[in-house]
Amino acid sequence: MILRKGNIFLLQTKKSSYFMQVLPTGHIEHMHYGASIITANQYEEFLKNGGAESELLSDMAKVLAIKHKNEGGNMVVYSEESYPLCLEVMPLEMSGFGKGDIREPMVELTFDNGASTCDFLFESAEISDELTALKTLPCSYTDEEKAEQLVITLKDSSYDIRLKMIYKVFPECDTITRSAILINNGKDTVKVDRLLSNQIDFQSMGYQLTSFHGRWADEMGKTTSVCNGGKVVNEELAAGESGSRSNPFTMVSMPDTTETAGECYGFNLVYSGNHYSSLSTNGTFLSRFVSGIQPTGFQWALGPGEEFEAPEAVMTYSGDGFGGMSRMMHDFVRKHIVRGYWRDRERPILINNWEATYFNFNQSSLLRIAKEAAKAGVELFVLDDGWFGARNDDHAGLGDWVVNTKKLPDGLKGLAEKINEMGLKFGLWVEPEMVNKDSDLFRAHPEWAVRIPGRSHSVGRTQMILDMSRTDVQDYIIDALSKVFSSANISYIKWDMNRIFSDRYSLELPAERMKEFQHRYYIGLYRVMRTLTEKFPQILFEGCSAGGNRFDLGILCFFPQIWASDDTDAVCRMDIQRGYSYGYPVNTQGAHVSAVPNHQTLHTVPLETRFSVAAFGCFGYELNLGELADTQKKQVADQVEFYKKWRKVFQFGDFYRLDKYRFMVVAKDKSAAVALIFQKESRPNNDYLALKTMGLDEGSIYEVANRQVAVNVKEFGSLINTMAPIHVKQNGVIHNIIARHYKMSGEKDEAVATGAMLNGCGLRLNPDYGGTGYGEDTRMFRTGDARLYVFARVTE
Ligand code: GLA
Repeated sequence: MILRKGNIFLLQTKKSSYFMQVLPTGHIEHMHYGASIITANQYEEFLKNGGAESELLSDMAKVLAIKHKNEGGNMVVYSEESYPLCLEVMPLEMSGFGKGDIREPMVELTFDNGASTCDFLFESAEISDELTALKTLPCSYTDEEKAEQLVITLKDSSYDIRLKMIYKVFPECDTITRSAILINNGKDTVKVDRLLSNQIDFQSMGYQLTSFHGRWADEMGKTTSVCNGGKVVNEELAAGESGSRSNPFTMVSMPDTTETAGECYGFNLVYSGNHYSSLSTNGTFLSRFVSGIQPTGFQWALGPGEEFEAPEAVMTYSGDGFGGMSRMMHDFVRKHIVRGYWRDRERPILINNWEATYFNFNQSSLLRIAKEAAKAGVELFVLDDGWFGARNDDHAGLGDWVVNTKKLPDGLKGLAEKINEMGLKFGLWVEPEMVNKDSDLFRAHPEWAVRIPGRSHSVGRTQMILDMSRTDVQDYIIDALSKVFSSANISYIKWDMNRIFSDRYSLELPAERMKEFQHRYYIGLYRVMRTLTEKFPQILFEGCSAGGNRFDLGILCFFPQIWASDDTDAVCRMDIQRGYSYGYPVNTQGAHVSAVPNHQTLHTVPLETRFSVAAFGCFGYELNLGELADTQKKQVADQVEFYKKWRKVFQFGDFYRLDKYRFMVVAKDKSAAVALIFQKESRPNNDYLALKTMGLDEGSIYEVANRQVAVNVKEFGSLINTMAPIHVKQNGVIHNIIARHYKMSGEKDEAVATGAMLNGCGLRLNPDYGGTGYGEDTRMFRTGDARLYVFARVTE
């Protein structure tokens, strides 16, 4: 809800409040963002007492406003009339440059006379029950009948230029979003040096900024820095995409915040380009968080009558620690960012041929993989890179979106039909933003590639980027892909983007506008994505950028899921998926079971672990199932069956990080849950582990059971001789015969318990193998092993 009393505004979600007022000068004082400052009863009281006539909000403002009555030492006083107001000490909703607030600005402009002082003052405010959609960028939305939005318009004190600040309130997920639009009503062009999306002035210091960093195949490493003075920054400076080096999602919390308790703010941007966020402090009593488009390398010439939109910033607050914030953020992303046909639908289990074949396939080898997958119950076959043009390796063909009939003699249509006949849906890989020098597209349109005339160009994966800021390029891609998408029965598209930017330049932009290129690229890309997703609403799109190099809310506005990493090693994936889980729900992250030794790490991880970790994502396989042993094929079929049974809980439940190597999902109605425990490093002797859950309904009774994992006798190696009547040579003929005929079903852990008991004390698990004995209750829990436990409610 949004309350207004004169020029005091309260934005209220279920458990958080955002409070501000207009100062006599017209600047907007930010008084509070965080825990709720009003109860539901007080709200009723406010309405009963005449809403805007009520004194409640003004009384509250008197409590929280800064008591600034004296000039501050060597600070700049804003104006004679407002003496002694020094903007430097005021918590503000937005800051410009040049009037005494010398902290990090949200807006930086250069006017035609070279001056860069701007001073935006309150002009008007409007509360509405419809959400404003941005024109050039994707943004959040709601299905609810009555939305809640506040637009505050500010005008510069000297120039005819306005700043609209849009606040959207999503009460049920404790989320508020902000965006900003700059409008030039004057006669001269203004240079926008930065227009960030939000600014939060905390009236305290000592906050910490948590951000997520990495590199290709090694995304989302969590890093935390306390900001006691100066500035902590999270940015993607020049990659030209939201990036694996620094994801745009960040958290601000206190050093004593834990997974389950304490203040936590989650911040993200609905944007896929270079981004910037920072937490700074004067080291005494104020901290400032800002985020938006990366200002380095950016400038925008805003002509008379023109508008410029900053991306939407998402802000989620929780007093229940990191976990509380994550679950609210997940709800927001699932309901207000992801959209369309697939939003609430269970995502299909897929088989992708990339790690099974790379470029080396033909129709028959693909059909063999599909046949095996169909037998296991898989639902979708995805043909990855290499099906088009002269694409036999990664040196040629990008840009030529025409099927290679040497590899696929029946074309995409024929292949899709054959796959469909097996009962599988058919999906395809594309990388539309790129071109190889060795391609018909480049030969026909060299001017479409991003490069600087007369200068040598740096390539990545031997490919160049198409200039998406050009309408002709956008139109070509829309047309070429529309033809591909309608050429066969295609149900799924993986949209890849495999290099970062260099040599940024567009032949269509004048020199003085060249710093607009990177942002214009994304405006163009979003137009292409919007057009194609609207034209093919039932296709399930999965974003990808050499794995998770463009994993952000901008992409998720069009594509409901993104391939999380090119690293398919389940052990690394636990870290990567845990990293994503702070800001992104399970059903936005593509996760597959691949072959061992793993192709990225050469690590051999048990099949059950590979499955258990991938199940906490949009699940699939990426290996040649036909090459597995029969026992493993059976195991795969069993995994598929299990996943289908619990898929709804995995994909739409509430996610809990029980600890570093334990995840849990709980159905929204608390009727079922699945937990994963993982053994990072096994030690001898026994730890008598307990599984302490989170999120179960305390008043309900649950039946608990582990997913039984068969044990191969050969996994005991030469220990077999402690039981065998004759000597068995390890891996010898007798060993193999015993392994074939002697089946060990694996331990069973079953219990019936109240949610209160499971959440409060945990379930004592059967012992794991500790070097001193083995029975049918013993859990084989070697380094790299994992176990899933399901919880089914028996009574309410
Ligand atoms: C990227 C993707 C992979 C695969 C290859 C194909 O690396 O992340 O999953 O699609 O491209 O070239």
